[in-house]
Amino acid sequence: QTILGISLIGATLFAGSANADVRDIRIGVDVPYEPMEFRTPDGELTGFDIELGNALCAEIGIQCEWVVQGWDGIIPGLMARKYDAIMSSMTINDDRRKQVLFSDPYFTPPSAWFAPAASDIEMPYPQTLEGMTIGVQRGTLQDNYVTDNFGDVADVNRYATADDMVLDMDAGRLDIVFLDFPVGKATLIDSKAGDYKVIGEMITEPKEYFGDGFGIAFRQRDEELANAFNEALATLKDNGTYQEIYSDYFEA
Ligand code: ARG
Repeated sequence: QTILGISLIGATLFAGSANADVRDIRIGVDVPYEPMEFRTPDGELTGFDIELGNALCAEIGIQCEWVVQGWDGIIPGLMARKYDAIMSSMTINDDRRKQVLFSDPYFTPPSAWFAPAASDIEMPYPQTLEGMTIGVQRGTLQDNYVTDNFGDVADVNRYATADDMVLDMDAGRLDIVFLDFPVGKATLIDSKAGDYKVIGEMITEPKEYFGDGFGIAFRQRDEELANAFNEALATLKDNGTYQEIYSDYFEA
């Protein structure tokens, strides 16, 4: 009877959580990366990743705390247990799959080139990038792609944050930048009407660079945690919550 009593108490303790084995976690994120993750004027974290992440945690029945971490140390921080997950517009690709376990993709935007409105660069002709100064965020897939494909003909400036890159672009030090499309749209097109334009097509290939959409990254062993997030994501897509959050950031 004592044993039964204990197991009943256990059941009650976890009654509020759909996943009894999944505990409260911390999530690493690199900001600002508007509209995905950034701060309100009051300093509060917001953005598509933050709101979706919070909704996923609520659905799972756990508390999630966001930990801000620079992009180039974001996977090492996961390994060092500074946090238990990364939700930071991280594209799922084979290189990263060797290091981390990804959730199902939760968003699949293309990459795109952005340049000053007066630019005469034409894409997709790599030769027009000869001698140009290209901006990327260090350690992103955009960095890898630009370095491998244009590193020999162009100058590549790598920035710790997307914001530093935008500042240099505004200061006239960059001819063109390569970014996740929604981020370039928010930071260069929507907020600086007329100063910048998209050059060429949306870019999604080759897959070895552009991967399979944004995923939440976990340590390889945390399959249960990844499964809980995958289930919650499916639920939020079914019940309309995902679409509501999406509309707040991408259809405004
Ligand atoms: N999607 C790109 C990548 O995975 C860039 C992500 C950068 N994210 C950020 N929060 N700064 O490489």
